[in-house]
Amino acid sequence: MALYSEKVMDHFINPRNVGSIENADAIGEAGNAKCGDIMKMYLKIDDNGIIEDVKFETFGCASAIASSSMATEMIKGKPVSEAAQLTNKAVTEALDGLPAHKIHCSVLAEEAIKKALDNYYQNEKGEKNE
Ligand code: FES
Repeated sequence: MALYSEKVMDHFINPRNVGSIENADAIGEAGNAKCGDIMKMYLKIDDNGIIEDVKFETFGCASAIASSSMATEMIKGKPVSEAAQLTNKAVTEALDGLPAHKIHCSVLAEEAIKKALDNYYQNEKGEKNE
């Protein structure tokens, strides 16, 4: 059996939603101290709390890039409440699995999105307090 599924290879070779968003409503970053890989997520969120656009920059391994790409596809067009429920397990399943020693790469995607959503809620609170 190949080490990586076809979906992992596809999202690694043709990653979706790569880049950054100018004036993003939320930004979240996650890193893994052991491998040194870093993932950054940018979200554009409309007034109804729907994720209009999402982009990522990942300085990391193939699994991290594939996980970022898949995760962005899974939350695009979704309400923030739904994006907050996204787990690394769901991302891994959507990729048809990752090798056991590469599961931590999918954790970065979950963490980066959660951090971005924290950032979004903080910004919202800030606006309301103004
Ligand atoms: Fe570090 Fe994959 S080896 S994120």
